[in-house]
Amino acid sequence: MATNTVSQKTLPGPFALPLLGRGANMAKVFVDVWTNTSRLHDTYGDVVALAQGDPTYVFAFGPALNFQLLSQPALFLGGKEKIMKGMKDPILRRLFLPNLLNMNGERHKQQRHLMLPAFHARQIGRYHDDMAALTQRMLERWQSLSQVELYAEMKRLTQRITVKTLLGLDDERVIDQIGTLFQQLMASMEWLMFTPSIDVPGMPYHRTLKLARQWESFLHALIAQKRQEAEATDVLAALVQAHDEDGTRLTDDELFSQTFFLYAAGHVTTSTTLSWTIFLLHQHPRIHADLLAELDGTLHGEVPTFASLQHLSLLDGVIKESLRLLPPTPTSMRTTAMPCELGGFALPKGATIFYSPFLTHRLPELYEEPDRFLPQRWETLSRTPYEYLPFAAGPHRCIAAEFALLEIKVVVAMLIQQYRLAVVPNARIEPKGSETAPAHGMPMRIFPQDRRFERVPVRGNIHRLVEFG
Ligand code: HEM
Repeated sequence: MATNTVSQKTLPGPFALPLLGRGANMAKVFVDVWTNTSRLHDTYGDVVALAQGDPTYVFAFGPALNFQLLSQPALFLGGKEKIMKGMKDPILRRLFLPNLLNMNGERHKQQRHLMLPAFHARQIGRYHDDMAALTQRMLERWQSLSQVELYAEMKRLTQRITVKTLLGLDDERVIDQIGTLFQQLMASMEWLMFTPSIDVPGMPYHRTLKLARQWESFLHALIAQKRQEAEATDVLAALVQAHDEDGTRLTDDELFSQTFFLYAAGHVTTSTTLSWTIFLLHQHPRIHADLLAELDGTLHGEVPTFASLQHLSLLDGVIKESLRLLPPTPTSMRTTAMPCELGGFALPKGATIFYSPFLTHRLPELYEEPDRFLPQRWETLSRTPYEYLPFAAGPHRCIAAEFALLEIKVVVAMLIQQYRLAVVPNARIEPKGSETAPAHGMPMRIFPQDRRFERVPVRGNIHRLVEFG
C-alpha cells in the first residue's frame, strides 16, 4: 500500500518548545490524549509530527493509515520494546519484554500459533461457567450494600475471572494476594521513570525487582504444577500443553512472560469497558429499558448461556458502541523497521508512529453523530477492521477479543437483570488522561432492578467525550 510519491514537505505539527523540545509536546498530548489527538488531527491533518518537521515521533490518523500501519508487520513493528529499552535488569526484561505484543516476524507468528488454541471459540465456551459463577458471587455480595465504587468492583471481578480462567486458581485469598502483588508492582514501576536504577533497599528500583522476583517464583511454581495436571482446562494449562507440528513448545521463560502479560492485559481492559458500558447504559434510560426487554425476552431472568448470548443483538450493539466511544486502548504505537513512507511523508528507521482507535471511531464520515451512544447503529452498520478497531487489527489484533466480549456480555447481562445502578449525583466522571480507566472511579448507588431508569447529572470531562442527547 505504499504510495510512490514521497513528499518533501515539512511534516506538519506543533512547534517544539525552546529547550524543552519534543518531550514537552509528548507530555502535553498524553496528559489528555482524548482532547489532544482530536486537536492535532483537526489542526494538522492525517499525518502529524509531535514536533513540526521531526519524523521520529508521528501520529497517523484514519482508516487508510491504520491499514498501512497495521497490515505490514515487517515494516511497522509492534510493541513497546523501544520505550522499554531502558530496562536493564534481566528479570524486568524477562517479565515485560518477551510477550506477544513485543514480538515480531517469525517469532511472533510461532508463539501466537502456539497460543491461539487457548482462545478458540470451543475453549472459550469452557470459561463461561466460571465467568457466570464469579459474577453471581459478586452480585450476591452486593445484596447487603447500598452503594459501590463500580470501577473497583469491576477490577476485582475481572481479576478473579482472569485468575480462575487463566491460571485455574479459585482460592479467593490467593487471588487477592496476586491482585495486590500486581498493583504493587505497577505502582512501583511508575516511580522508575523519575528515580535512578539503584538496587539498594528503600529505592523504587529495589522494590520493583523484589516484586518481580515474587511474580517469577509464583508463576514458575504454577507452571511446574500445570505440567503435572493433565486434566486442567485453564489457559495456562492449555499453553503448557501447546505444541507445534514439529513438537516445539513454549519454554518456561516464555510461559512466564506470556502469562504475566495475559494477566495484565486480561483484567485492566475488561474492567474499564465494563465500567463504561454500565455507566453509559444507566445514563441512557431508553436504551437501558430496551436492553432489559431484550434480556427478559430471551433469558427470562436466567443466567445467559454461551448459546443464548448469540441471540442478544442489542447487547452486542451496546458493547460495540461502548468500545467505539471509549476504547480501553485509545492510542497504540508501531516502530518503523526501515526507512519508509507513510501518508506521503518519509520516515526514518526507528520512528515511533501512534495510531488512534479513538480518533478513528469519532470520524463523522464513518459514524454519524459520532459522539452519541447509539447502539442501534450496529443493526445496519458494518465497518472494516481498520475503521472499527478497539481490539486493533492485523497480526497483533487482540488474541483474546472473543474471550473479552464473552466476559463483558455475561457480566452486563447478569448485572442489569438483577440491579439498577445510578451514579451518585454530581460525581466527577472522566477517563484518565492517557488511558480510558475512570480517573476518579465510578460511585454508584444500587437498587434492585425496579426499572426506574433515570439519567443522573454528573460532572467531569465525560461531557466533552459523550453527547448525552
Ligand atoms: C475489552 C477488552 C480488551 C481490549 C479492548 C483489548 C485491546 C487490545 C489491543 C488494542 C491490542 C493490540 C495493541 C497494539 O496494537 O499495540 C491487544 C493485544 C493483545 N491483547 Fe487484548 N484487549 C482486551 C482484552 C484482552 C484480554 C482479556 C486478554 C487476555 C486474556 C488480552 C490479551 C492480549 C494479547 C496477548 C495481545 C497481543 C496480541 C499480539 O500481539 O499478537 N486482551 N488487545
